[in-house]
Amino acid sequence: MAKEEYAIHIPIQQYHPNELTDIERIWVDEAIAAAKKAYAPYSRFQVGAAVVLADGQIVTGSNQENAAYPSGLCAERVALFYAGARYPDIPVKAIVIVACRDGIIQKPTAPCGACRQVMLETERRYRHQIQIILYGSDTVYEIASAESLLPLAFDADLRSNEQFFAINN
Ligand code: THU
Repeated sequence: MAKEEYAIHIPIQQYHPNELTDIERIWVDEAIAAAKKAYAPYSRFQVGAAVVLADGQIVTGSNQENAAYPSGLCAERVALFYAGARYPDIPVKAIVIVACRDGIIQKPTAPCGACRQVMLETERRYRHQIQIILYGSDTVYEIASAESLLPLAFDADLRSNEQFFAINN
């Protein structure tokens, strides 16, 4: 078989914060408030996540660090796992991520690989796309689905999810 090169296209909308809709502004403000409550004495990098559920409820989280560094957790997973624990039957429809260090960071902060993996499984679990808003104070990135942020994702999870849905639905 001849070698072929494939390019993966990731659609990202880039815009200025003043183009956010009113409801998105509310979500962003929740994420900023969450970031300010982060427990980040080691990195001094405060991250806030606002998870928006399909019924409009907002669940927030912030990064929680620990002296045993790997024991800490990112803001996104704090919020997504709390949403999963508290409202297991309600799909997630959006997540806003914002970071602060001496004020809100100007450029968008992208989620780490582990958080992308969790976002993707949340999306597949509820069969509901998650709108991802990466907020920076001078630039916003918006991605329509967690699927595009994790191309070539591990696929055994997908098969087990499909079996899970075949059994549970
Ligand atoms: N962090 C997050 O909370 N979310 C991300 O997407 C990237 C990193 C946290 C982990 C750690 O507490 C701090 O930011 C510095 O890496």
